Amino acid sequence: MLKKKIEEIMNRQVEREGFSSNLYLAMASWAETNGLPGMAQWLYTQADEERLHMLKFIKYINERGGKAVISLFEKPQPDFQDALALFKEVLAHEEFVTESINEIVALTLEEKDFNTHNFLQWFVFEQVEEESSARTILDKIRLLGNNNMYQFDRDIMSLRKPAASAKTPA
Ligand code: FEO
Repeated sequence: MLKKKIEEIMNRQVEREGFSSNLYLAMASWAETNGLPGMAQWLYTQADEERLHMLKFIKYINERGGKAVISLFEKPQPDFQDALALFKEVLAHEEFVTESINEIVALTLEEKDFNTHNFLQWFVFEQVEEESSARTILDKIRLLGNNNMYQFDRDIMSLRKPAASAKTPA
């Protein structure tokens, strides 16, 4: 049975992963309507992965005798200045999610909930990858400059690592 404190912070993460999915959908829509179809595809795929992350939390909470709650998600911003600004936001958002996961990990240790601690390890590793791929793309955009996006946009999907997020947590 999940302790109340753990259930609450895990539900906070349900909301954050759901918001992440919507945020990347909003970004994908911006990219698709601004001549960046490759980037849009990258972001749509990312949105799907975030939905899977949310589902993992939902299923875990319910399996452990808690109740996953789906809340209203904040409306993501619809517009971005350019590809560079957009990916700066992707990285900042992933850093925020990493921080959020780390807070839950710390609480599981405090509360001696080692099952949830184990469950979270997949997310700890996943966040390293999420931040690193956002950083790689950001570096490349900085190098090329916003006005030189044509070829990079064509190749961006090749930078995706094989869908780690599709795997079931160990
Ligand atoms: Fe589910 Fe990108 O963190």
